[in-house]
Amino acid sequence: MEAAVRNAVPGILAECGGNAMCATCHVYVDEGWSGCLADVEELEDELLIGVAADRRATSRLSCQIRMTATLDGLILRVPDKQV
Ligand code: FES
Repeated sequence: MEAAVRNAVPGILAECGGNAMCATCHVYVDEGWSGCLADVEELEDELLIGVAADRRATSRLSCQIRMTATLDGLILRVPDKQV
């Protein structure tokens, strides 16, 4: 989420600034990468219930993805709406 905001990626609103309160940083993780991320925690899961676009098995809140060197090249897609 921080990288998206810093680089003005369209569709990442991040209204709560990464505090896991708004779900406007929703992204779809490319299926080839979905097993590389940490599991969805309870709070993220609850927020994903209320996302504006369809929730998919690969849905994540980008502010909850902790970037590491092993995620270099991670492919994320932005849903068609956040609100
Ligand atoms: S920026 Fe608000 S939940 Fe991710």
